[in-house]
Amino acid sequence: MTDLQVCHNPEDLYRQAAVLFVRLAGEAASVRGRFTVALSGGSTPKGVYALLAEGEIHKQIPWPKVHLFWGDERCVPPTHPESNYRMAEETLLSRVPIPAQNIHRIPAEKAPAQAADAYEQVLQEFFALPQDTPPRFDLVFLGMGPDGHTASLFPGTTGLREDKRLVIAHYVEKLGAWRVTLTSPVLNQAAHVVFLVCGADKAETLRQVLEGSYEPERLPAQLIRPVHGTLLWLVDQAAASSLSVRE
Ligand code: 6PG
Repeated sequence: MTDLQVCHNPEDLYRQAAVLFVRLAGEAASVRGRFTVALSGGSTPKGVYALLAEGEIHKQIPWPKVHLFWGDERCVPPTHPESNYRMAEETLLSRVPIPAQNIHRIPAEKAPAQAADAYEQVLQEFFALPQDTPPRFDLVFLGMGPDGHTASLFPGTTGLREDKRLVIAHYVEKLGAWRVTLTSPVLNQAAHVVFLVCGADKAETLRQVLEGSYEPERLPAQLIRPVHGTLLWLVDQAAASSLSVRE
């Protein structure tokens, strides 16, 4: 099931995403006793995290039952300005009563391949999985770049075709940098996947991803098709401006 929701502006989008987080957290915590989430990096999720830490919303979340993971990470230490963990730490983690043992960051200060191996082990142990079995997150937040990348699955990279590993490290030529990322089979096992996309610079790419032909090598965001879950595109009006059908 794919759903598109066009929000008036980024602030409206942050609020919709935060409200959804509250609802899914409450449901998962009462049914399974825990809520597992994979966070994204990027500027759009940042607005959502800031809101999750605020007043009324913050109080409605059962923080001791929330377990946070990351969909991808830049290969830098957790204190580095480019670290996705650091962004979440500053906007959210340091402001809410989440137990330290519920924060499962990618150890990207290690060498890239070791970081990927270590994170795969973290997932296997936490979710008590047999080798190569993808975990099922309750919620995955994803962003999308103007080039169609999502998480750290970039156009034309070999990692796009990975179907065994849960986590990979790869060198992304266009960034001149290493990234660690969950693979598409893991992202596609989630119960709920939510893309957060803002800005006119993404309008044409969003149109191609949602309305164009299936070319995931060029538009990796098209790889995201949850197997037994829901897919929601939360986009602002600027990002939706090239779509032929809007909500
Ligand atoms: C990252 C990401 C990446 C991001 C997109 C969109 O680490 O950079 O996880 O996939 O979500 O690039 O980012 P913006 O919301 O900043 O455009």
